[in-house]
Amino acid sequence: MKKKEMLHWLDEKDPDQLDGLFRKARACAIEHVGTKVYFRGLIELSNVCSKNCYYCGIRGGNPNLARYSMTPEEILTCARQAFEMNYGSVVLQAGERRGEDYAVFIEEVVRGMKALSDGRLGITLSLGEQTSETYERWFKAGAHRYLLRIETSHPELYQKIHPGNHSFGERLDCLRALKRIGYQTGTGVMIGLPGQTREDLVNDIFFFEREDIDMIGMGPYIPHADAPLARQSDLLMPEAGVSMENRPSGLSGFRYDAEDQLRLGLVMTALTRLHLKNVNMVAATALQAIDDEGRERGILAGANIIMPNITPVKYRAKYQLYAGKPYLDEDACQCSHGLDRRIRATGAEPGYNEWGDSPHFRFGKNDLRSA
Ligand code: 5AD
Ligand code: SF4
Repeated sequence: MKKKEMLHWLDEKDPDQLDGLFRKARACAIEHVGTKVYFRGLIELSNVCSKNCYYCGIRGGNPNLARYSMTPEEILTCARQAFEMNYGSVVLQAGERRGEDYAVFIEEVVRGMKALSDGRLGITLSLGEQTSETYERWFKAGAHRYLLRIETSHPELYQKIHPGNHSFGERLDCLRALKRIGYQTGTGVMIGLPGQTREDLVNDIFFFEREDIDMIGMGPYIPHADAPLARQSDLLMPEAGVSMENRPSGLSGFRYDAEDQLRLGLVMTALTRLHLKNVNMVAATALQAIDDEGRERGILAGANIIMPNITPVKYRAKYQLYAGKPYLDEDACQCSHGLDRRIRATGAEPGYNEWGDSPHFRFGKNDLRSA
């Protein structure tokens, strides 16, 4: 699809037109990644974070938050539970921490997860920026996928939503290192950031293509009261020549409008599917925070991965990246039964006990064999 057409879709509001786009994207997903939806059980192992991203509720600088770190035993118990619920894979996510002790801690947890499942549990890490050596170590221990969102592919906007010591270039280097090491590499962006334009969003899709990304996880930006970005309504970028007219319609200045955020999240999902075809793409939990059926709608717009939260309930309220994060008080089993039903209701089939690797990773971007 041409850039111009993508720009048009980001402003389309007619429900029938949008429905047509989503149907095309779902058909494209079925053709290139199959009818199944795969699970990645999400374990949020710690909310300790040394970074201070302006949008995030668990940023190191937020004093209104008790910090927790799960023990290796707790993490392995969670992983075993995921394995027993027939989830093919788990994702270990946490705030960013570095250093030798931490690298060893994760390495041992990864080995433990491999051991408890006879090597069968797929392991994705989402642990931020690390040195290449650390990434390599974790890869050797058995992790095979890594998620590191670029957040926005626009370097100036990236700088605006992060403190001065965060670097777009370093993040990009990390993504490239992950690919070089052999990880299935995932990235993504937040949609509807203050100052973000329609062009930025379309460029994000071209960024995924240019960087040869295997997995995409993107969702609406949702303000968090304890994060400074929520209070900054003037984060426009005059120096980048961004005018208000270029902003996606409905997002005027910076006022959070749930309906527009949902629409944009779904349109971006559909456009990304139609453009990249054989990548894995998650139906973001942040969609669910906005709409009760957000994740199902994500699937119907081209997503093929779901990340059910399997973090112990007692920790969940402490891992609020954004306001209104769903399922704070529902345990993993309750989530799992509901999810099976919800996925089948979309006409898709849950892919139990399967890794569900992205065909993009297995065959490359140019081999668009049908699933
Ligand atoms: N709204 C939406 N997504 C957020 N994230 C962090 N804060 C927010 C927010 N306020 C996302 C970032 C990060 C991922 C773990 O969570 O994209 O990469
Ligand atoms: Fe830390 Fe990630 Fe939140 Fe940034 S987005 S503050 S790195 S947890």
